[in-house]
Amino acid sequence: MNAARQAKRSLVSGDYVMTADDFAQIAATLKEMSGIVLSDGKVALAYSRLAKRLRILGLSSFAEYCAMIDSADGADELQAMLAALTTNVTRFYREPHHFDTLHDLFLSDLAQKARSGERVRLWSAACSNGQEPYSMAMTVLTAMPDAASFDVRILATDIDPNMVAEGRDGTYRSELLDPVPPQSRQRFFEASYDGHLAARASLRELTRFNVLNLLGAWPMKHKFDAIFCRNVAIYFDEPTQERIWARFAQCLHEGGHLFIGHSERVSGPAERYFEATGLTTYRRRRA
Ligand SMILES: C[S@@+](CC[C@H](N)C(=O)[O-])C[C@H]1O[C@@H](n2cnc3c(N)ncnc32)[C@H](O)[C@@H]1O
Repeated sequence: MNAARQAKRSLVSGDYVMTADDFAQIAATLKEMSGIVLSDGKVALAYSRLAKRLRILGLSSFAEYCAMIDSADGADELQAMLAALTTNVTRFYREPHHFDTLHDLFLSDLAQKARSGERVRLWSAACSNGQEPYSMAMTVLTAMPDAASFDVRILATDIDPNMVAEGRDGTYRSELLDPVPPQSRQRFFEASYDGHLAARASLRELTRFNVLNLLGAWPMKHKFDAIFCRNVAIYFDEPTQERIWARFAQCLHEGGHLFIGHSERVSGPAERYFEATGLTTYRRRRA
């Protein structure tokens, strides 16, 4: 097959033609927007997730879709593409050892820091629909029930505005709360519509949700005592990961903690700023 015909051939059989050029444009756009690398192994996944968008938009090929996201009016569709291609899988108390460590940090250090009038700041840096930051909030309130009376806050951010809105809403199907011990479920959630459970005011008071792209500017003025950035760097290439670790080193207090996903590791120049203190847990070195 000659090169021109090869370029027009669909990579996936289905209702729409997706050529190698279409896929390359989608992958390049996604990487530029979010840092996420769409490897060649993800062609079928990209096709099936975006075919739904083509159907909704009434388009007949990925060439048309690519022209749309490339056009001056493409901003809304770019957001929809990002939402379709990102993986938002999360769970309450996912990787529970991190929450045990956070609990211990409050007992040993952070509760006292807050009670002495200092600011204590935690960050869930790719919070998906809020299960991670609310798990952090439950952990804080279990270790320090009066945390909200002091200057203790959890910042929860994600690139996807839909996820941020769900987190802010704080309402979940009851089965998603299965990993939450019954006592905590009762203490921190209340019945909502149709078998759903909603985060109580005590969790909401501690937690602030905002859209933030880890690749863009970080407008936060103060340093953090702990950062959870879990299961997102895995989607970035090595140079992007290294830049993110270095930025975390700059915005963590000395002695502050960084928690990362189970298949991630701090790499590159930032390694000298971090010492591993447990499973995928790092402490910012003191100068
Ligand atoms: C697999 S979820 C992980 C959620 C949570 N941290 C956990 O471990 O359960 C990955 C999240 O990263 C977000 N994300 C992807 N790229 C991002 C970026 N450049 N900046 C901020 N968030 C991003 C996605 O929207 C998604 O919600």
